[in-house]
Amino acid sequence: MGKTTGCCQSFLLNYETPKILVIPNTGVGCVFRFAQLLVLLYVVGYVCVVRKAYQEKDSVISTVTTKVKGFAFTNTSDMDPRFWDVADYVIPPQGDNSFFVVTNMVVTPHQTQSRCPELPNPSTTCVDDCDCIEGHSSPRGNGIQTGLCENYTTTVRTCEVLSWCPLEIDTKLPKRALLAAAENFTVLIKNSITYPKFNFHGRNILPHINSSYLKRCEFSRTTDPHCPIFRLKHIVSEAGEDFQDMAVKGGVLGIIIDWSCDLDWWAGKCYPKYSFRRLDNKNPVNNVAPGHNFRFAKYYKTPDGAETRTLIKAYGIRFEVLVFGTAGQFGIVPTIVNLGAALALLGLVPKVTDWVMMTFARKRDLYKKHKVSFLNEETDTHSMSVGTSYGTQ
Ligand SMILES: *[C@@H]1O[C@H](CO)[C@@H](O)[C@H](O)[C@H]1NC(C)=O
Ligand SMILES: *[C@@H]1O[C@H](CO)[C@@H](O)[C@H](O)[C@H]1NC(C)=O
Ligand SMILES: *[C@@H]1O[C@H](CO)[C@@H](O)[C@H](O)[C@H]1NC(C)=O
Repeated sequence: MGKTTGCCQSFLLNYETPKILVIPNTGVGCVFRFAQLLVLLYVVGYVCVVRKAYQEKDSVISTVTTKVKGFAFTNTSDMDPRFWDVADYVIPPQGDNSFFVVTNMVVTPHQTQSRCPELPNPSTTCVDDCDCIEGHSSPRGNGIQTGLCENYTTTVRTCEVLSWCPLEIDTKLPKRALLAAAENFTVLIKNSITYPKFNFHGRNILPHINSSYLKRCEFSRTTDPHCPIFRLKHIVSEAGEDFQDMAVKGGVLGIIIDWSCDLDWWAGKCYPKYSFRRLDNKNPVNNVAPGHNFRFAKYYKTPDGAETRTLIKAYGIRFEVLVFGTAGQFGIVPTIVNLGAALALLGLVPKVTDWVMMTFARKRDLYKKHKVSFLNEETDTHSMSVGTSYGTQ
């Protein structure tokens, strides 16, 4: 070995080339094929079929308009008989991706700017004027205190406030929703979408829907799954709620339109899928501050010039139209990238098998001995067979 000492002995300058070692061991062979099978199943089953990794993806861009229809007539003790149409119960007349239908309300008519005693509660009751602070206003109160203590009823005295009087008493909310008839209202939802990357345009009024069908149809999951007209009661019941229950205190309901599509020519047509769910938290255990309401007022001038208003605390259901979706279409770039990843994974299989073979096989010492061999040119010049082995560690 005299010649090979020196710099050329260093590992840095030895050239390593793989050689084939055939192992006639069924166990190791099984591990190898099994690992290959696993990788193949993963690539074909999960990557190709489930994730459709050969596709390019794009997310939906959408626009929604809604139109509610229906009439109601109310005749209750605390309000004059009244006819309602869409301009009365949809507030505001036009919203982005949502609409609010009034179902219940507390109306306080003929309010004027004046002074009146506060509604009684522990912080507003008083014995005499000393208990009231002039100019004090509490965010939970109804106005600015004038510093006087006034009779609220014959038995209760409260601090007087400057406010819109008479004050609203919202505890007398009707137990049965005023506009119970809203359950039979219908809404037409028009939704146009586009997937800009694939230049795909669609709308939920599908090409096969003609105007005579649109005039009479109503969405039903079994008979009319593509009709874009929904009965409010049906929406609420598909969300697992009772309309009349929800109508008393209001709530928020989601109309979810799923436009997820496979745009490859061999896949089916691209249709929207509707689902419905209640979005506001209805926790039966901790049902503090339930529902959805807001206040608005209508202002008038009396003939003698004084300003009066009608205050309305409106309870109702806000319907939010949520559109989502991803479309995929065959693309050469993702296909090549994923093919490369699959091949790399397949390349890992021999490493794993090697490890199993060197760690668990019965004849692992023999395999280790032959796994790495050092070609000694001195002693092996006349034979092609491999020389002394080293590295049986
Ligand atoms: C307030 O009530 C008390 C007792 O009920 C009565 O004596 C008094 O006259 C009332 N004051 C006013 C301004 O009505
Ligand atoms: C809604 O319509 C159905 C059938 O048309 C009717 O039976 C029901 O009483 C209506 N609901 C209300 C609250 O008017
Ligand atoms: C509209 O479509 C329905 C089926 O969806 C069909 O029965 C009807 O004949 C069509 N009407 C017109 C005017 O095309």
